[in-house]
Amino acid sequence: MNRMGKLLYVTANPKGIEKSKGLQIGETFIETFQLNRLDVDITRLDLFKQEMPAMDSELVSARAKVGGYGIPIDELEEGERTKIMKMHQIAEEFKSFDYFVFVSPVWNLGSPAVLKAYIDNLFVHGKTFAFTPEGPKGYLTGKLGIHIQTRGGVYTHGPMKDLESGDRYLQIALKFLGINMMDTVVAEGFDHFPKQVPDIVAKAKEEAIIAAKKMALSPLDATIV
Ligand SMILES: Cc1cc2nc3c(=O)[nH]c(=O)nc-3n(C[C@H](O)[C@H](O)[C@H](O)COP(=O)(O)O)c2cc1C
Repeated sequence: MNRMGKLLYVTANPKGIEKSKGLQIGETFIETFQLNRLDVDITRLDLFKQEMPAMDSELVSARAKVGGYGIPIDELEEGERTKIMKMHQIAEEFKSFDYFVFVSPVWNLGSPAVLKAYIDNLFVHGKTFAFTPEGPKGYLTGKLGIHIQTRGGVYTHGPMKDLESGDRYLQIALKFLGINMMDTVVAEGFDHFPKQVPDIVAKAKEEAIIAAKKMALSPLDATIV
């Protein structure tokens, strides 16, 4: 079969599918998407198993030299060169996909650190975005993304409303890169309402099925409402 597109399934949860509700909801999404789009290749990326450079002094320095001063990569020190080349490889690979599905839990009001570390590797000036006289421009246009997020507490209403920043940041970061982001599938209240866990998962799976069909059947450059 001629494959017509590529989907990257990015997960940031170390618990494994047996224990993670988010990964189970994500699987439902992926199964539904694949049933509707046999032509799309799906690649899985578990961020807890992915090697990626940390934004340490060498990478920060390499980034400034290459992005800021236009110094060629082969003139960098060895450590700097190795790390920025790996970063560019991660960003290039990411760019080659058409669809992105992220699954992550809320940890301490944000995302697991590996997800932020991954985003740090995707922001490469001149490859995935650029600052232009008209403002920032994301290069990943004509691509669709979605985030599936699980939460122990409740953030859509009540005293914690708006205190969650993991989903907000992921949405902002991926939109900044140009990706057309769909509404997040949120499954919340797992730890506050432990007796309701099966119901919360079932409802989120229903939403995931609807979202997966929508993603599968939408033209890539359409604005999803
Ligand atoms: C280190 C850690 C920090 C957490 N911090 C929060 C938090 O700030 N807010 C929240 O609602 N839940 C928090 N939780 C609970 C998880 O978000 C929740 O158990 C998870 O989303 C359930 O989905 P899962 O089964 O896919 O992991 C935390 C869990 C861990 C392990």
